[in-house]
Amino acid sequence: MSERAVGGAGFGVLRLPDHVHFGAGSLDSLTPAVLAFGTRAFVCADPFLAGTPLFAAAVASLRDAGVEVAVSTDVVPELPVASIEDVASTAREFGPDVVVGFGGGSALDLAKLVALLLAHPGPLAQYYGENRVPGPVPPLIAVPTTAGTGSEATPVAVVSDPDRELKVGVSSAYLVPRYAIVDPRLGRGVPAAVAAHSGIDALVHGIESFTARTVEPNWGAELPVFVGRGRLSSLVGLEAVRVIGANLRSAVLDPADTDARDEMAYGSTLAGMAFGSGGTHIAHALQYPVGALTHTPHGLGTGLLLPYVMQAILPAATAELATIGDALGVDAGTADERARAAIDTVRSLTSAIGIPATLADIGIARDQLPRIAELGLTVSRLANNAPVPAAPETFGLVLEAAWSGDRSALPQ
Ligand SMILES: NC(=O)c1ccc[n+]([C@@H]2O[C@H](COP(=O)([O-])OP(=O)(O)OC[C@H]3O[C@@H](n4cnc5c(N)ncnc54)[C@H](O)[C@@H]3O)[C@@H](O)[C@H]2O)c1
Ligand SMILES: [Fe+2]
Repeated sequence: MSERAVGGAGFGVLRLPDHVHFGAGSLDSLTPAVLAFGTRAFVCADPFLAGTPLFAAAVASLRDAGVEVAVSTDVVPELPVASIEDVASTAREFGPDVVVGFGGGSALDLAKLVALLLAHPGPLAQYYGENRVPGPVPPLIAVPTTAGTGSEATPVAVVSDPDRELKVGVSSAYLVPRYAIVDPRLGRGVPAAVAAHSGIDALVHGIESFTARTVEPNWGAELPVFVGRGRLSSLVGLEAVRVIGANLRSAVLDPADTDARDEMAYGSTLAGMAFGSGGTHIAHALQYPVGALTHTPHGLGTGLLLPYVMQAILPAATAELATIGDALGVDAGTADERARAAIDTVRSLTSAIGIPATLADIGIARDQLPRIAELGLTVSRLANNAPVPAAPETFGLVLEAAWSGDRSALPQ
C-alpha cells in the first residue's frame, strides 16, 4: 500500500443531485428550482425554521411567482413511521409537482419519504433497506439548515419504527434530491449542541467514506447504494475532512464566527456527496443500537465512537488515516505516525466540542455491549463496508474500548 492515499482505487462512483447550489444568498434559487418542475410545491419544514424571516421570504417569493405552496411542519423528532405516513396523506390530497425539505436532516428525510409515498404505495416498511424503492419519486429539493447530515446530497432517509429495535434506513438512488440548495445563512443561528452533534457527524461521514473497504463493483449488476471507497468519493471526502477539521471547533465554541459556520455548511455537503456513494461503516452501524438504547443524538454517538473505530482499522487503513492526518493538519512524519496523530487529533476535537468520551458516560452498562455488537452487525450494509471484516470480536473490542475509554486493547 502506498504511503499516501489520495486517489483511492482505479474506479469510482458518485451519485449527486442534478444541481448543487452553495453560497450565502443561494436560497433565492428555490423559486426558479421549483418552477423547473411545476407550480405546486409541498414543503416539509422544520417547525423552528418555519417561523424565521428567511423562510417567510422564500415562501412569499414562491407565491409571487404563482406557485401554490402547502407547508407541513409536522417534523416529529426521530421521524416515527406513523408521522411520515400522516404527512404523506396530506401531501397526496394536495397533489404537488415537487416536494421541498427545509430544515435539518429530519425535515430533509421526511421530504424524501413523503415523495416516496406519493409515488409508491405504503406501508413504508416494504422499502426499508437498500435498493427497494421500485422507481422514481417526484422531484425533491433539499434546503439544509444544519451542517449537517449531508442528506441534501444523499440517497438515504432514516426512520424510527416502533416495531423495530433499531432505527431503519431507506436507501435508494431514487431518493437523491434533484436540487441541493445550501445557503449557509440558514445555519448561522444553530444552537451549539446541534452544531456539535451534526458537525462531528459530518466529519464521521468524511472519514468513514474515505476509509471504507475497496472492492471493485460488479458493473453488470445493480450496484449497492454504498459501494465503498473509490476515487471519486475519496476526492470529495478528503476535502470534507479538511474543511470540517479546520472549522468545527470554532463553529461550536464561537457561534459568532460566521465564517466557520459557513465553512461547515460547505464541508457537510461535501461529506454527504462522499458518503452518498462511498458509504459509512462501523461507527454508524454501532450508533444505531447505541442511539436506540440511550436516546442520544445520532452525531453524539457516531462522534463518540469515531476515535475507537479509527484505532480498530489502523493496521488495515494506515495510508488512508495518514492522509486524513495530513488533511487535519498534523505534523509530518511516517505514515504510521501521521495516522496515529489523526486519531489523537480527532479525539481532542470531539473532547473540545463536548462529545462524551465513553459509552459509560452516556449510561451504557458493560453487560449491554455484547447485544450492541450483535445488533450493530445486523446493519450489514454498513458493517460490511468497513476495511476490516465485520466480526463479533472486532465490534466487541471497539465497544469495550469505547466503553472504558482505553484504546490500548485495540490493534496498535
Ligand atoms: N439522510 C441522511 O443521509 C442522514 C445522515 C445522517 C443523519 N440523518 C438523520 O438526520 C437526523 C438528524 O438531523 P440533524 O442533526 O440535522 O437535526 P434535526 O433535523 O433533527 O434538528 C435538530 C434540532 O435542531 C433544530 N434546528 C435545525 N436547524 C436549525 C437552525 N438553522 N437554527 C436553529 N435550530 C435549528 C431543529 O428544530 C431541531 O430541534 C437524524 O434523524 C439522523 O438519523 C440522516
Ligand atoms: Fe451520520
